[in-house]
Amino acid sequence: MNDLIVRLENVTKIYHTGEKVHALDQLSLEIKRGETVALMGVSGSGKSTLLNLICGLDVPTEGHIYFEGVDLSSLNDNESTRLRREKIGIIFQTFNLLPTLSALENVALTLRLQGNSKKKSDARAKEMLECVGLSHRLSHLPDEMSGGERQRIAIARALVFNPPLLLADEPTGNLDSQTGESILELLINLHRQFGTTIVIVTHNELAAAHCQRRITMRDGRIVKDEVHRQEQP
Ligand SMILES: Nc1ncnc2c1ncn2[C@@H]1O[C@H](COP(=O)(O)OP(=O)(O)OP(=O)(O)O)[C@@H](O)[C@H]1O
Ligand SMILES: [Mg+2]
Repeated sequence: MNDLIVRLENVTKIYHTGEKVHALDQLSLEIKRGETVALMGVSGSGKSTLLNLICGLDVPTEGHIYFEGVDLSSLNDNESTRLRREKIGIIFQTFNLLPTLSALENVALTLRLQGNSKKKSDARAKEMLECVGLSHRLSHLPDEMSGGERQRIAIARALVFNPPLLLADEPTGNLDSQTGESILELLINLHRQFGTTIVIVTHNELAAAHCQRRITMRDGRIVKDEVHRQEQP
């Protein structure tokens, strides 16, 4: 197996809407399989842009991105979708839940799309929703739930298929500190148990302390990259 799960080579992302924005500027980065990375930096520094490029939801203006050694620019739309469906759990800043599906259905959908039976998918989704403390809200629609609850559905959905890579954009941003802490523990346990590689965007020092590596961005560049210690027990 390739030791590197993600590699970025001189990646630049320029948005042309209105004024030209250099969201990422000649950024190079290697993420090893099994690493836990806290991605930090002020608002607008390019963190979400970086996650969107790593999972192939957006394409770089210049440079190359490799997932398990495969150049993402060589994948067509179907292959790119399949990569995300099978290998990358994504927790978006905006959750991206399907409004017409219940909590259970939102989480089970990923498994159904992978070809699992309804029975198996529902059972596993239920288990995952229990892990994030939502077993009492299985049949609620996203609109019928609080921001923190929606965030937890998004977390359950990203984790339900045990992806080798988890990209999490401020996964505990809307949660009270106790719920946030239990979600972080869930993520770290996942890493311990399955070797999941985790990249987590956070503004929170305590959350970052759970990770082995801390990358700080500014103006679309990495300005600090520290492997500070093993994660806390
Ligand atoms: N679709 C877009 N069109 C134009 N500009 C964009 C777009 N998406 C992001 N940007 C700009 O690119 C820069 C980086 O944005 P990004 O969302 O990656 O920041 P971020 O570090 O995730 O910030 P935050 O902490 O607020 O979530 C910002 O200046 C933003 O305004
Ligand atoms: Mg962001």
